[in-house]
Amino acid sequence: MQLSFSTVIATLAAVFAVATPAAAQFCSQATRFGVVNVSPTTLSPGDTFTVTANFTCAAQFGVHPQYTDYYIEVPVNNNGHEPPILLARRTLNASSATPLFDQFTTQLPYAYYFNTSTYVVMLDTTFPQTGTNGSLYSVVGGVETVIQIL
Ligand SMILES: *[C@@H]1O[C@H](CO)[C@@H](O)[C@H](O)[C@H]1NC(C)=O
Ligand SMILES: *[C@@H]1O[C@H](CO)[C@@H](O)[C@H](O)[C@H]1NC(C)=O
Ligand SMILES: *[C@@H]1O[C@H](CO)[C@@H](O)[C@H](O)[C@H]1NC(C)=O
Ligand SMILES: *[C@@H]1O[C@H](CO)[C@@H](O)[C@H](O)[C@H]1NC(C)=O
Repeated sequence: MQLSFSTVIATLAAVFAVATPAAAQFCSQATRFGVVNVSPTTLSPGDTFTVTANFTCAAQFGVHPQYTDYYIEVPVNNNGHEPPILLARRTLNASSATPLFDQFTTQLPYAYYFNTSTYVVMLDTTFPQTGTNGSLYSVVGGVETVIQIL
């Protein structure tokens, strides 16, 4: 087969059209369960703050959240009196214009905090996996962002 110049151009255009969405962004492994952010990051009990979560990269890793649970936690050097504090249990809104993005505001609970501990907002993302016989089961992945509690 003899390729004409216009065929080559059309073929290249098709290759770029396919390649562009994947090449548009690089997602590190750290983003596979979502990316969570908090604003402001320095908080006292009763303070209102905004939490955002972005699952654009998660979707690229095949992670499609069934539930998203948000906690305040002390994951390192927990003194045994610092249980996870639930902030919100949510689901993504598939009909939203930004179905891979979640945002909400909440207040820092009047819980017992220790001024020597490092607190994070933890996002626990529950998502389905295909089991060895083809049936689905659910697993949970966590991602966190540090906050300061005064
Ligand atoms: C979500 O993250 C992706 C990848 O980093 C970014 O391109 C996009 O703008 C973010 N979406 C929002 C609503 O911030
Ligand atoms: C989901 O998004 C749609 C479109 O923005 C909106 O009309 C609807 O109220 C949202 N549902 C929830 C539960 O927030
Ligand atoms: C932390 O709290 C203890 C007990 O209330 C207090 O003695 C200490 O000064 C505080 N440390 C800081 C860095 O605020
Ligand atoms: C896989 O095993 C589960 C649990 O026994 C069963 O409910 C399901 O029907 C099985 N699926 C297939 C595709 O065999």
